Amino acid sequence: MQRPVFAANWKMNHGPTEAKAFMRTFLAHYARRPDRSVLFFPSDLAFAAVADAIRERQDLLLGVQNIHWEDKGAFTGESSAAIARDAGARLVLVGHSERRHVFGETDEMQARKCHSGVRAGLTPVLCIGELLAEREAGQAEAVVIRQLTAGLSLLDPRDVAQMLIAYEPVWAIGTGKTATPEDASRMHAVVRRHLTAMLAEKAASVPILYGGSVNRGNAATLIAAPEVDGLLVGGASLDAEGWSSIVRS
Ligand code: PGA
Repeated sequence: MQRPVFAANWKMNHGPTEAKAFMRTFLAHYARRPDRSVLFFPSDLAFAAVADAIRERQDLLLGVQNIHWEDKGAFTGESSAAIARDAGARLVLVGHSERRHVFGETDEMQARKCHSGVRAGLTPVLCIGELLAEREAGQAEAVVIRQLTAGLSLLDPRDVAQMLIAYEPVWAIGTGKTATPEDASRMHAVVRRHLTAMLAEKAASVPILYGGSVNRGNAATLIAAPEVDGLLVGGASLDAEGWSSIVRS
């Protein structure tokens, strides 16, 4: 994956009609650039519309926001990694803070999702990050290391070397409070050290993205911070012009 990596997490926004209109504007504003990667995570029901809109643009990659860890079966409302892959997804977000804290998902579930994603040929983007109370209690590093260790526990180191990590402090997501570039760098260095203990020199190949209230105004400074290899963006990725300007930063 070419760095920097810019990833749009649309969450539960943009149906197929809005997604099509978004892509028309975005493609008009963003010509292919070989020096970066641009990823989109639309909702499952807008996925086909986005895939169709970017068919000619192999530089733009598509992923799903979530998968179930089983391959198939009686799991109403869920999609498996194999179904996502068949629909054209290349990546999957795993362990986003909303999955953990709104839907009560555990570290063990994230491990199973990463494993099932890799088995189906999807690249997991494992999201980790501490709550405000955990940060204030001085536990931020311990929390991200626990989430990393657990989330990667079922994977072969070879597979870990192919994936992405997103550090998203929960107190910064959708709140308008961004980590400072120094904060982000410090936490990313913790993640990198942990990956190095697992993968030795191959750890350098894993992009570590920062997420949490990234916007047009702060994107360039955050992306320039040491150890920040990309950005995972929610709210500010919903506007096509705004997102194209972030991606060009
Ligand atoms: P935000 O969300 O940019 O709206 O803070 C980021 C995310 O949840 O991935």
